[in-house]
Amino acid sequence: MNVLGLPEFDGHEAVHVFHDEATRLDMAIAIHNTRLGPAVGGCRMWPYASGAAALADVLRLSRGMTYKAALAGLPCGGGKAVVIGNPATDKTTRLLEAVGRAVDSLNGRYTTSDDVGTTPADVAIMATQTRYACAPLMADGSAAPATAFGVFQGILATAAHVFGSDLLTGRTIAVQGLGAVGGRLCEYLADAGARLWISDLDGARATAIAARWKATVVAVDEILYAPVDILAPCAMGGIFDATSIPRLRCRAIAGAANNQLATAADGVALAARGIVYAPDYAINVGGLIDLVHAQRGGYDVPEVLEDCRRIHATTLRVLELATQSGEATSDVANRLAEQAFRTVPPESRR
Ligand code: NAI
Repeated sequence: MNVLGLPEFDGHEAVHVFHDEATRLDMAIAIHNTRLGPAVGGCRMWPYASGAAALADVLRLSRGMTYKAALAGLPCGGGKAVVIGNPATDKTTRLLEAVGRAVDSLNGRYTTSDDVGTTPADVAIMATQTRYACAPLMADGSAAPATAFGVFQGILATAAHVFGSDLLTGRTIAVQGLGAVGGRLCEYLADAGARLWISDLDGARATAIAARWKATVVAVDEILYAPVDILAPCAMGGIFDATSIPRLRCRAIAGAANNQLATAADGVALAARGIVYAPDYAINVGGLIDLVHAQRGGYDVPEVLEDCRRIHATTLRVLELATQSGEATSDVANRLAEQAFRTVPPESRR
């Protein structure tokens, strides 16, 4: 297979493929860019249909980490690991130890964390084999609290840009997905006086959160089209496309879900409709900020939250530049991130 020819390759610095005979481990680690610092990114375990599918995913995800870290001004680069297998049936202590040894063989060029299919407890097992495995620390190893706080900062900045004030009192906000991030986000938004419209595939969860924050429950297939000030997608990616965008009735979008735009052209389509889109990776970086603090040692929750507050300024900058230039906000975010990670001279790294 020609890895260099894959559309997802996009100038990756390195792609490592590992096989461990004893544990039947098949995995890949992609390192997209380390100009701003050693690569950081989670380890995903998934029953990929083929090695090619796993490679395409790891390349796409590690590239995304570079952009996310660079836009936030973090001293790290983008990387990612994927393990081919079913986390429910194939994940053993020995397999996770083998993952740790694979990570260790890169001598710190890549530090791993958890992702879909792995948990902070799994990362702790990897960490028995390497110094370069680390989980966020804020709440039992979950990135979600810092992510939710950061998304809240992004929503405040979006409100400031669109409505001239980041006071959320009386503003209507629709939250799609009430899981680890969306559930916590509702608390911040309700405390700030927003009126919430909420939805989750798990109806009982939606009912419980609605009762707690006096929110209105909306049907799963209607939440994206709610006539609200701000829509906060906190469930799945790929939700804004040629079918959904014409039906949107929100003024702005700011939420946690990764890869909300189906294609880059959909960012332009949102702008053409006058809907202000706070780029997902600009505002959902709180978990990575938490991880960077955990890696550094001397972990301090107020310091993590202080760094997450910088998401407000970054988001505002992206939105304002897009207004000035007439570009889509997603294009502006990409440009700023690329400027950050492409123009650092190698000698000033770290
Ligand atoms: P989660 O799995 O805890 O929660 C997702 C929730 O969305 C679940 O309650 C699920 O029932 C609901 N859901 C799924 N599809 C839905 C639909 N079509 N309509 C309504 N609800 C739906 O996930 P988590 O951790 O809260 O993450 C949410 C999003 O944020 C994901 O896209 C994730 O990739 C992204 N993200 C999460 C970070 C974190 O720190 N957990 C960091 C950065 C991004």
